Amino acid sequence: MKTLVIGTGGREHALALQLARDAEVHAAPGNPGIGRIATLHDVDAMSGASVAALADRLGVDLVVVGPEAPLVAGVADAVRAAGIAVFGPSRAAAQLEGSKAFSKSVMADAGVPTAGARVCTDAEQVAAALDEFGAPYVVKDDALAAGKGVLVTRDRDAAMAHAAGCGTVVIEEFLDGPEVSVFAICDGERAYALQPAQDFKRIFDGGRGPNTGGMGSYTPLSWAQPDLADAVISTVVEPTLAEMRRRGAPFVGCLYVGLALTEKGPKVIEFNCRFGDPDIQPVLAVLDSSLSALLHAAATGTLSSVPAPVFRDAAAVTVVLASAGYPASSSSGQVITGVEDAAEAGADVIHAGTALDDEGRLVTAGGRVLAVRAIGADVAAARARAYAAAELIAFEGMQRRSDIAAEPLGVVEGASLR
Ligand code: AMP
Ligand code: GLY
Repeated sequence: MKTLVIGTGGREHALALQLARDAEVHAAPGNPGIGRIATLHDVDAMSGASVAALADRLGVDLVVVGPEAPLVAGVADAVRAAGIAVFGPSRAAAQLEGSKAFSKSVMADAGVPTAGARVCTDAEQVAAALDEFGAPYVVKDDALAAGKGVLVTRDRDAAMAHAAGCGTVVIEEFLDGPEVSVFAICDGERAYALQPAQDFKRIFDGGRGPNTGGMGSYTPLSWAQPDLADAVISTVVEPTLAEMRRRGAPFVGCLYVGLALTEKGPKVIEFNCRFGDPDIQPVLAVLDSSLSALLHAAATGTLSSVPAPVFRDAAAVTVVLASAGYPASSSSGQVITGVEDAAEAGADVIHAGTALDDEGRLVTAGGRVLAVRAIGADVAAARARAYAAAELIAFEGMQRRSDIAAEPLGVVEGASLR
């Protein structure tokens, strides 16, 4: 099978690595890490016409659109209209991530367990909603904000100020409990869940500091209920797919279910319309089935023709290396050393925000720069290998959490304001 991966980050590098096990992989625009395992092409990832033209010229069997922005912009629609199989939702279905208010309305109509929420357009409504739910306050920008549009705080003034800086905001009930990511591979009607993972969202150890796009992740979760993935399929994913069909926007692609495991059971924190990064990285590392066959079946509405995904009896851990200033800002152009050594130490060095400078040196080019991923017989072994490899990599101003997958510490991630 010939595949084309759209995007530039760690998620796309991890997808390309997995697809390359049994498929030919092209990527656009890609990054220096992806370039080592796939053929790179220059493309405006936000232009559906350009992506469709590239896919047509290459004669690929499957396009996988990685990030949310092109999906929300309708890139998958253009590829599908060109008669090429594409894993990724239409513009209409991507609204499950593109608008928090839309996803809340779908969840309400589908009876999906989630936090109570109020959509607010002015300060008076915000104040009323904050007082209705009480502290800790959860304030979300309605629009896409790369995981950084959410403020969770006990400070009412800070909550009001964050809301004032957004347009439409969603104020939510605080969900108390560990966070879990479940990825559902959907063909519009049916879905298979991948093995659950945990993402560490805050910048500092112990779940402190501002939210980021994710600073590390691991799987499996020994402390989660064994039937969690199945429960999420039946109580969250299937009702959501039915509601999306009812609305004339069937969802094809990865429905990313971000959950809090509360005392009253799993509740949805958010939906995303694509794989989570870095959460998906350890999950792919232990996936035994063919990813290309799975995604192609989903893209062509034939998921029932492939078996449910199978996972190795092993654990995987990913540790993110971020640049100075992240998540408020980032720094670029810092020379990165030690990548080859880390790979020799048995880790996958996944590129997220890197570039080659004029002299051909690998340099930082974004907030999250690299992710170091390792497999082991159990979480402790995978974690030890990932950190040993990460220790070998350096660049000026590098930030890295030291408690990724340090069970049972990981269990409190997401409930740090208790
Ligand atoms: P989101 O972009 O909606 O995933 O929110 C980013 C992060 O904010 C989540 O991963 C949680 O850590 C936190 N968060 C969002 N909504 C809630 C909620 N209702 N209760 C508690 N924490 C939340
Ligand atoms: N790691 C969180 C996300 O991809 O949204």
